[in-house]
Amino acid sequence: PYVIAASCIDVMDRSCIEECPVDCIYEGERKLYINPAECIDCGACEPACPVSAISQDRRVPPDQSHFVADNARFFAEP
Ligand code: SF4
Ligand code: F3S
Repeated sequence: PYVIAASCIDVMDRSCIEECPVDCIYEGERKLYINPAECIDCGACEPACPVSAISQDRRVPPDQSHFVADNARFFAEP
């Protein structure tokens, strides 16, 4: 799946939401999150983000790799 990383924090441009054909991008308090169970890996959201916060999970920069787990945790059942 695709993952939203650090640069979305407190920016929350929301352009990505309009591009997602399966509506799997959800709002958190300070950033948005992509539901890994719903993302179909289409890539449409990636170029829509003005701050390049979105990338495929295996291309997330190493210093931001914790956002992969953070995204999954956001959607995990409590
Ligand atoms: Fe939605 Fe496609 Fe982005 Fe996944 S890759 S979040 S399906 S727009
Ligand atoms: Fe965030 Fe970029 Fe979407 S700033 S809300 S990931 S367009």
